[in-house]
Amino acid sequence: MRVRLGWKLGLTYLVLIILSLAVSGYFTMDFFERSFLDERKAALFTHASILANSAAPYLRSEEQNPYLHYLAREYGERVGNRFLILNKSGRVIADSADEFTGRLLKHSEIRAALNGENAAGPHLEPEYGWVLYLAVPVSSGKQVIGAVFMAADINPLVDRLDEIRKSLLWFSVLSGAVVFLISLFLGTFLTRPIKRLIHATGRIASGDYGFQVRDIKRDDELGELTRVFNEMSAKIKEEDNVRKQFIADASHELRSPVAAVKALLESWPEKGKPGEEEIAELINDLRFETDKLGWLVEDLLVLSRIEGNCRQLNLEETSVGELTEAVRKTVMPVARNKGIDVETVHEGDVYWHLDGEKMFRALYNLVDNAVKYSHPSGKVTLGFQVQDETLMFYVTNTGEGIPAHEIPHIFKRFYRVDKARSRKTGGWGLGLAIVKEIVELHRGRIQVDSEPGQQTVFTVKLPSVAPNLTNS
Ligand SMILES: Nc1ncnc2c1ncn2[C@@H]1O[C@H](COP(=O)(O)OP(=O)(O)O)[C@@H](O)[C@H]1O
Ligand SMILES: [Mg+2]
Repeated sequence: MRVRLGWKLGLTYLVLIILSLAVSGYFTMDFFERSFLDERKAALFTHASILANSAAPYLRSEEQNPYLHYLAREYGERVGNRFLILNKSGRVIADSADEFTGRLLKHSEIRAALNGENAAGPHLEPEYGWVLYLAVPVSSGKQVIGAVFMAADINPLVDRLDEIRKSLLWFSVLSGAVVFLISLFLGTFLTRPIKRLIHATGRIASGDYGFQVRDIKRDDELGELTRVFNEMSAKIKEEDNVRKQFIADASHELRSPVAAVKALLESWPEKGKPGEEEIAELINDLRFETDKLGWLVEDLLVLSRIEGNCRQLNLEETSVGELTEAVRKTVMPVARNKGIDVETVHEGDVYWHLDGEKMFRALYNLVDNAVKYSHPSGKVTLGFQVQDETLMFYVTNTGEGIPAHEIPHIFKRFYRVDKARSRKTGGWGLGLAIVKEIVELHRGRIQVDSEPGQQTVFTVKLPSVAPNLTNS
C-alpha cells in the first residue's frame, strides 16, 4: 500500500506527541500522587505519634489495660479516625472501634513500626475502597514496646487524582488531534509542488519537452527545485529543437550534391558516342561532387562522434610545436595554390596535456578557414604562447573578415556568412561547430576578433589542468 507523504508526516507527529504527552503525563501524575499523599501522611503521623506518646506509659504490661481503650476511643473520636494500639508482639490491646481487640495483626506497616520505624501505605480494601494504613512505634526509652496503627479513608483523594488524570487524558487526545490535523495540512501543503513536479516529469517523459510548472511562489528548496526543473525542461526543448534542425539541415545539405550528381548523369548525351574530352569532363565533375559529399559525411561523422557517446578526451602530453607544424604542413598545398604563405609563430616548444588528434582537427579547421577566406597572396599565421597557466593559440589571416553582427552565429552548425561563396569553396558551415565542441571539451574558450577588410583573429584558450578532465 502506498502511504502518502502527508499521512506519513501526520502519523509521525502523532506518535511523537503521544510519546511526549505520555511521558510528561506519567511524571505529572506521579508528582500529584506523591504530594497529595505525603501531605496527608504527615498530618496522620502527627496524630499517631501523639497517641503513641500518650499510650507509652500504660503499655508496659502485657495485660489489657482499660485506660488504653479509653485513650484510643477518645482520641479516635476527636480526630475522626480509627486507632489501634498493639503490643510488641503485634497483638491488638485496644481498638477505638472495639472490633479487633485481642487479635494478632500482621500488616507490613505494623511490622515496620515494631522494628522502630514509621510506615504508611495505601491499600485497596474490597469493603472500604482506598485506605491508607499507617503505623508508628510506641517506645519506652530506646526500646519498642508496641505500635499505634491507624487506617484513614483516602477515597476522596483518589477521586481527585482520577479527575486530574481524566483532564490530562482529554488534553492529550485533543492536542494529539490538533497536531495530527495541522501536520496533515502541512503535508498536503508540502506535497502539492511535488505532485505538480511528478505531473510535469510525466509530460516531459511523454515528449512534451519544455513543459513548465507554473505558480512558483515558494522561496524554499521546493521552490528552488521547481525553478531548476523548469530550466531543465526549457533546455531539453532547446536541445531537441537543435537536434531536429540539425537533421533537417543535414538532409537538406546532403540532397544538393546528390541532385548535382543525378543532374550530371541525366544530361549525359543519350545519342551518339561521347568524345574523350566529354568523358573526362564528366568524370571531373562527378569527382568534385562526390568529394564534397565525402567531406560533408566526414564532418557529420566527426560532429556526431564528438557529441555522441564519445565525449571523452584522449589526453596526452603533446608537443604543441609539433602539432602546429603538422597543421601547417597539411594546409600548405592548398595555401600554395592560392599563393598564400602559412607561418607558425612561437618561442620554443611547449608540452601540454591535450587530445592531440582532436586539437589537430580544431586547428586545421581554423587554418583551413583562414586560407579559404583570405584574398590570394594573403598571409596566414598560426601561433601559440603560454600566459597565466593558459595555452593560447591564435590563427590570423588577412581578408574580408567577418561582420560583427555575424560573429555570434558563425559557430552554429551549417551557418555560413556568404552561402554562395562558401558553397563554391566547398564549406558546409560545420567546421567552426566542430572547433567549438573540441575546445569546450577541453574546458577551453574560443574568441573571434575581426576587422572587416583588414584581418581576422581566432583565439583559443586552454586551461592548464582542467579539474574534471580525466584521461579516459
Ligand atoms: N577566417 C575567416 N575569415 C572570414 N570569415 C570566416 C573565417 N572563418 C570562418 N568564417 C566564416 O564563418 C563561416 C563558418 O565557418 P565554418 O563553420 O568553418 O564553415 P565553412 O568553412 O564550411 O563555410 C564561414 O562560412 C565564413 O563565412
Ligand atoms: Mg570551415
